[in-house]
Amino acid sequence: MAKYKIAWMPGDGVGNDVMEAARIVLDRMKLDAEYVPCDIGWDFWCKEGNALPDRTVKALKETTCGLFGAITSKPQSEAKEELIPELKDKGLVYFSPIVKLRQMFNLHTNMRPCKSYPGNPLNYRGTRIANPSGEDIAIDQVVFRENTEGMYGGVEFFPLPEPVYTALCANPKMKPWKDKAGLENIALSTRIVSVQGCTNICKQAFEFAKKTGRKRVTLIEKPNVLRETGGLMMRCFKDVAKGYPDIRADDANIDAICMWMFKNPQDYSVLVAENMFGDIVSDLCAGLVGGLGFAPSANLGDRYAVFEPTHGSAPKYAGQYKVNPIAMLLTAKLMLDWLKENEMATRLEAAVARVIAEGKVRTYDMGGKDSTLEVAKAIADYAS
Ligand code: IPM
Ligand code: MG
Repeated sequence: MAKYKIAWMPGDGVGNDVMEAARIVLDRMKLDAEYVPCDIGWDFWCKEGNALPDRTVKALKETTCGLFGAITSKPQSEAKEELIPELKDKGLVYFSPIVKLRQMFNLHTNMRPCKSYPGNPLNYRGTRIANPSGEDIAIDQVVFRENTEGMYGGVEFFPLPEPVYTALCANPKMKPWKDKAGLENIALSTRIVSVQGCTNICKQAFEFAKKTGRKRVTLIEKPNVLRETGGLMMRCFKDVAKGYPDIRADDANIDAICMWMFKNPQDYSVLVAENMFGDIVSDLCAGLVGGLGFAPSANLGDRYAVFEPTHGSAPKYAGQYKVNPIAMLLTAKLMLDWLKENEMATRLEAAVARVIAEGKVRTYDMGGKDSTLEVAKAIADYAS
């Protein structure tokens, strides 16, 4: 019997391309694993009315962890259009299967490292971020994104049920909408956060900083406007920070940090944020280190985890083996870390770094013409 059982979820679009790349590398590294193919994604929504079929949930429960490619999500009206005729008008509601998975398995922590590997052109124009003496600036940031609550918690309404409308109207701030809209013209998405959720994500961030010798943890919020939810997160952050006197704890508003990180990316180390702000800022961090082709992520729970690159399914490139597999391979590295296969994880990251530094085998985003699988094979050669 294999040491690990890994749920294999390519999902949609280029998810398949990059998962094939991951498999080449994991097989060459001889990871002792059985891979369990699991259905997830847009096709299953269209054919079955469920992008995360029950059989997948069941299969996941019997695995050590999951590896996931990418997902296509569309707005509700388009999603309903694409259902097979037998399923139309059945009142089915689309939800993102990855967001659902994170909640269902309580994968509360989304960890997203973004590192500038030497030799990597730091943006799509191939120029590097350099200091005044022309040396590359080293960026090494890790985003801790709360993964189950907040703006992506899924508590949303349209149209607004009468009791919800009435309850909201008890607040005088509802007046403008009461006057101009009426309940049938209002949509509502909630931002629900808890002391437990906020405290947990802050603890994860500080613990990581302590374990890896990092000296700074920055909270990203907007408590000057989002007074209650942002305020709660801020209080939890400050409480947790007291337990880590050697680590500098500071905070920044989401808008300001987008400017500061673009200007001085080397100043930041560990970043912690609520679900939506973490989603936004992790794409920004990816942009600072070469784009989404270099951004891995781990959805971590207490006993289970699902690993996925930060990028989406890029439907226009699906099946063309054009996209950069490095995000996926660094994601596999995070999985190896979690499995405590430390030697393998180090070997894989070193192989990725070496291929980037040599710059001989490169996908289009790195200014090259090589395919997804060619890059994977070059990395596998060094990793095996
Ligand atoms: C991500 C993605 C997802 C998210 C989408 C595809 C639902 O943007 O993992 O960052 O918002 O979490
Ligand atoms: Mg995102």
